[in-house]
Amino acid sequence: MKLTMQLGSRSYDIILKSGCLANLYQFANVANRKVFILTDSGVPEQYAQTVLAQCPNGMVYTVPQGEASKSLKVYGQVLQAMLEFNMTRKDLLVAVGGGVVGDLTGFAAATFLRGIRYIQIPTTLLAQIDSSVGGKTAINIPGGKNLVGAFKQPSLVICDPDTLKTLPAHILSDGIAEAIKYGMIRDPGLFALLDAHNSDNVLPQADEIIARCVTIKRDIVAKDEFDTGERMLLNFGHTLGHAIERHSEFAYTHGQAVAAGMCMLSARTAAPAVTARLIGCVSNY
Ligand code: NAD
Ligand code: GLY
Repeated sequence: MKLTMQLGSRSYDIILKSGCLANLYQFANVANRKVFILTDSGVPEQYAQTVLAQCPNGMVYTVPQGEASKSLKVYGQVLQAMLEFNMTRKDLLVAVGGGVVGDLTGFAAATFLRGIRYIQIPTTLLAQIDSSVGGKTAINIPGGKNLVGAFKQPSLVICDPDTLKTLPAHILSDGIAEAIKYGMIRDPGLFALLDAHNSDNVLPQADEIIARCVTIKRDIVAKDEFDTGERMLLNFGHTLGHAIERHSEFAYTHGQAVAAGMCMLSARTAAPAVTARLIGCVSNY
């Protein structure tokens, strides 16, 4: 399946297909340019290696896993490594990982040499349904989360649901929290799908869940790229969530914290089953 984000000169395709990671070369010119592949130490190496195998002039750079890598320090190290790889504006950055790698890569792409192209290859459910699409990029500073960033759309999103097979259940659960968000803001039909599935048996439904969530996000972002109106719907639960993340020193993941934020905001109005599901995401079942 191919979805297109319609944003004029910043339009791009979102490819959603099992196995498409191995066919990146069919969708992007990775042969005639340097390709800097950014991943983290928790992402199974095979994914970045599959990308590298398609890039004659590629290199893999691995940052430590976890939110702490969305920092000024790691961002600076990434830029330095790109410089030492002699990257030019014709070259390409590729994010292989979850939202942490995606946000960091996007911000490096937005700022290196005043902006170069990048591709998102999300490997968590959360990144596949949310963070890889829409061009929000950011790092954290001691004063708060995502406070330094840029709107920088990727030039392509390659979403391969097969990569979810290696995800631990608690990280899948973080993605389910964001899927519940789409149910609450736009598509209550997602609840029936999610009701019947938890992190142990959701994978066969992943294609449908991703397609429905990404379609919603695509349609909202196409109307409000810079988050001044309708896009704010996508931030549902996030203000409280970001506070919880930061004040727990990131002991609570983004998915858990957003689930808690949505729960607090909707406790009086949401169906009890939805509230119970959100509480389940907070406690990572
Ligand atoms: P994450 O990127 O930290 O990934 C979670 C863990 O899963 C990491 O340890 C990672 O190494 C590991 N991992 C990744 N892929 C794997 C795989 N296929 N198999 C096994 N392990 C794997 O967390 P996340 O939930 O993907 O993303 C959260 C981040 O995304 C937060 O920083 C949040 O602020 C950001 N975010 C950004 C947007 C946006 O629009 N830019 C939207 C939502 C969230
Ligand atoms: N996750 C919020 C947004 O992309 O706008």
